[in-house]
Amino acid sequence: MKFVKKSENTSPYIDNIFSVTSLAKKDPDGINATAGCLYDETGKMLTYDCFEETEKELTMRQKAAYASSPAGNKEYLDAITDFVLDKRVSNHYRAVATPGGTGALSMAFKLCLDAGDTILYPEIAWGNYKVMADESGYKVLNYDVYDLEDLFRKIDMVEGKVFLVVNSPCHNPLGHAYTYEQWQKILDKLNGLHKEAVLVCDIAYIDYANGDPKKYFSLFNGISDDLLVLIAASCSKAFSCYGYRLGCLIAIHNDEEFLECFANLASRYGRATWSNINNGGMLTVSKVLLEKRKDYDRELQEAKTLLKERRDLFVKQAQECDLPLYDLSDGFFATVKVSDNTERDQIHQRLMEDHIYTIKVNKGIRIALCSVPLKKLDGLAKKLKEKL
Ligand SMILES: Cc1ncc(COP(=O)(O)O)c(C=O)c1O
Repeated sequence: MKFVKKSENTSPYIDNIFSVTSLAKKDPDGINATAGCLYDETGKMLTYDCFEETEKELTMRQKAAYASSPAGNKEYLDAITDFVLDKRVSNHYRAVATPGGTGALSMAFKLCLDAGDTILYPEIAWGNYKVMADESGYKVLNYDVYDLEDLFRKIDMVEGKVFLVVNSPCHNPLGHAYTYEQWQKILDKLNGLHKEAVLVCDIAYIDYANGDPKKYFSLFNGISDDLLVLIAASCSKAFSCYGYRLGCLIAIHNDEEFLECFANLASRYGRATWSNINNGGMLTVSKVLLEKRKDYDRELQEAKTLLKERRDLFVKQAQECDLPLYDLSDGFFATVKVSDNTERDQIHQRLMEDHIYTIKVNKGIRIALCSVPLKKLDGLAKKLKEKL
């Protein structure tokens, strides 16, 4: 293609989420199970009052100003790392602000991988990993999240540096979460490799997980010198502020000097790519965490309760009508098993004809429990089963 660089991928880019979401929006009486954002029971996007009130307290000048550094405002970085790490990590770490979890992931990929290097991510996964891998010419190896032996086999197949992306808990789209014992085995495997390995923890939805989802962070205190842990965190989900484009990348390693160099690379990459991060967003998040933490925790808990009610209803009704679902623990989504992707395409189309909008994923159909009110969710499992 004229003008663009020779290595550019010129195939048409079709975003399979945004295209179906826009169809669903034109059909307000239909069931819109596409959006990966929290919606309340009236069908409107759920936002946090503490976030909105804090944002309103900022002046236009504060919001319009540039951030104080390409790596992010210090108050934001301190507040967000304390929030994300939750006092679980005593090893060394450094953080940089990024535009959402996506910015954190793309930064991790770009800083650690050359074209032709291999990236390991789940066989059924958030579609953007593939977009990022294709865009930069990485080889991809996929693993089954339900089978640790498969993951370990794939790790052994990688020549050179291991670069592993794990999206747990609240896996998108499966809702899968590794237990603490499984995390121990994953860390044992990586620590025992005796070659360079990077573990990227995509924790985009972790704040909506049940139990003690951050317990496994303590395992990062005993990592080998050959392992770098990168945590990609997203404020989009945590603070229900998707369009603000806020997140962070936290690097954890035994060697402080290495982290200093890594943070320097990250700052330069950020400066060259997005220059700096949304200042008003960073100010808001740090103020919420420092001044309104109790309100935030309460509102988050309410959102978690709502999600749980939806998940419990959907899973119960799916069991009653034998709708095959992938095993799920928590998160925004549930996925209907359809092993054959051609069949999946037909079912997806039939559902749209019946005003039910869902997202196609590898070997399945994703239902966004986060965006469907209980009254519309009631009976959805049966409708889906009828279309299978
Ligand atoms: C698994 C996963 N990781 C990361 C992200 C990044 O989200 P954002 O860039 O909006 O923070 C998403 C968003 O949908 C996601 O589903």
